[in-house]
Amino acid sequence: MEESDSGGTAPTGQVVSSLLCCQKKTSFQSWFKVLLLLGLVFVACYTLSDSSPSWTQLYEHYQSFMKRTNEVNSHPGYPVHPKHRESLRHILNRKTGPTLPPAGTQYHQAYAPNYHFIMDNKDVCKIWTPFLALLVPVAPHNVAARDAIRQTWANRSVVQGEVVRTLFMLGLPGGDDAEQVQETLKQENLKHQDLIQSNFMDTYLNLTIKTMVIMDWLATRCPSAAYAMKIDSDMFLNIDNLVIMLQKPGIPTEKYLTGMLMWDRPVVRSKDSKWYVPEEMYPDPTYPTYCLGMGYLFSNDLPAQFVEISKKIKPFNIEDAYIGMCMKKLGLQPTSPPDASQFKAYNWKYDRCEYSKIITYILASSEQLVEYWTDLKKPGAPCKGSE
Ligand SMILES: *[C@@H]1O[C@H](CO)[C@@H](O)[C@H](O)[C@H]1NC(C)=O
Ligand SMILES: *[C@@H]1O[C@H](CO)[C@@H](O)[C@H](O)[C@H]1NC(C)=O
Repeated sequence: MEESDSGGTAPTGQVVSSLLCCQKKTSFQSWFKVLLLLGLVFVACYTLSDSSPSWTQLYEHYQSFMKRTNEVNSHPGYPVHPKHRESLRHILNRKTGPTLPPAGTQYHQAYAPNYHFIMDNKDVCKIWTPFLALLVPVAPHNVAARDAIRQTWANRSVVQGEVVRTLFMLGLPGGDDAEQVQETLKQENLKHQDLIQSNFMDTYLNLTIKTMVIMDWLATRCPSAAYAMKIDSDMFLNIDNLVIMLQKPGIPTEKYLTGMLMWDRPVVRSKDSKWYVPEEMYPDPTYPTYCLGMGYLFSNDLPAQFVEISKKIKPFNIEDAYIGMCMKKLGLQPTSPPDASQFKAYNWKYDRCEYSKIITYILASSEQLVEYWTDLKKPGAPCKGSE
């Protein structure tokens, strides 16, 4: 569970929250802040003797940490129109029960063929067969994130000699300006031909639908691609390293799912959490092994199998864990990447050398993506000592 404005995923967050402490209530958080500050002061006093990190540096560190922590808590980036800002609890407490699936629904709400594409760019994979298709869930109005990605990791159509395509996945915009947003999306797609849109409401709680519609698109519109990746719109992606990884001998061409692996993650049962999943929806206390939603990679034989098996899997609102469940029901397991340290989640600070070696990092903004990317690509060796 993770999330990002991307209309992205679900489970990065769960990990992050357990790493950073954040699912407790505000009072706990303030205590945590105080403790953290005290800790930093202690470290500062301790290190001041040899005066390596300055007070300001430590304070900046603390500030950026808190900023990130708060972002993780509130995810201000994911813009949900007030109309759709209905909490899961609310939906579940309704006398009428959970939200009714759209008319003509088969199986359940997350069964992708229930929906139809409004934009599908169905020829993109026919013109050049991609080695790798990158599918980015993103909120409809978030053109800034799409533009930043177009300028950075989606800029080249050939990477390390392989054809790579990036496409953005959207649902229907909500709110009073929905018609207007829809019109701009059409224009944007005319210009870039990289939007895929389906007719489900684009909301945070519908991210599992979004992921499954991505799978449906890959299975029906892009089956010729060798690999695909679901990657959130707030990610730094070192696309060269990713393709290099996939070109390594021994990387499976079938039944392969990789990324940052999550084992035995407990299901969040605290109703105040963003990642709350009620027992009625998912009774087991833990999730099957899954890959963190920020960015996971798979051989392109899997999407059709995910869609098919999903008929038998009750949906829940944690998209990456849902994919983990599909794997389990298919009798498959996610695989660790050749170098697990290349799939990173939260970063403390930008380091050019570090960014030249990794595959993923979660960023705070689209500006950061452009800034880091530009710096990484400037002339000169990224790591000291290798000049
Ligand atoms: C890719 O980057 C180049 C150089 O920065 C720029 O001129 C070009 O317009 C970009 N292409 C796309 C598709 O954004
Ligand atoms: C999810 O999308 C469906 C189909 O558009 C819609 O009926 C439902 O209200 C959405 N659910 C949430 C929680 O946004």
